[in-house]
Amino acid sequence: MFDVILFQPEIPPNTGNIIRLCANTGTKLHLIKPLGFTLENKRLLRAGLDYHEFASITVYENWADCARDLQGRRIFAVSTKGGQRYDMAAYVSGDVFLFGSESGGLTAEMLENFPEERRIRVPMIPGNRSLNLSNAVAVVVYEAWRQTGFTEAK
Ligand SMILES: C[S@@+](CC[C@H](N)C(=O)[O-])C[C@H]1O[C@@H](n2cnc3c(N)ncnc32)[C@H](O)[C@@H]1O
Repeated sequence: MFDVILFQPEIPPNTGNIIRLCANTGTKLHLIKPLGFTLENKRLLRAGLDYHEFASITVYENWADCARDLQGRRIFAVSTKGGQRYDMAAYVSGDVFLFGSESGGLTAEMLENFPEERRIRVPMIPGNRSLNLSNAVAVVVYEAWRQTGFTEAK
């Protein structure tokens, strides 16, 4: 239904949570190197992941390779600097969500490639920096899935 891209994720437990979220929502996960861990990392496996949860993960050397693979798909950049509130966009099955790294987020250069309406943000109380990456992924994926009627869920 949906795809999630993590741009240069650094913290194993965050990616572990996201792998589980993706498995539970039928979402494909794309990871862009460099990664702050290997996929065999004990801290990832300690998150209690089953091997089938690793099935839908693709790793890319760089953003250009990932963008080429997902060519033609509608991609939303998810950023604290997004102009569009995430719940105001209308999602359809096949949409893709791109998230930044824990320390650097998405660069201004990357964000420039997305039209204003495809740069989405999750609202926060003023003065706060950002949500945890895995929480931001959960909020956005569940909103997109809710809008599309929780297809295939039981
Ligand atoms: C820990 S945050 C990165 C913080 C980074 N300093 C920034 O300002 O983008 C990691 C990623 O989680 C997502 N994220 C966290 N909070 C968000 C929010 N309120 N709105 C949209 N995305 C958010 C973004 O994809 C972000 O790149």
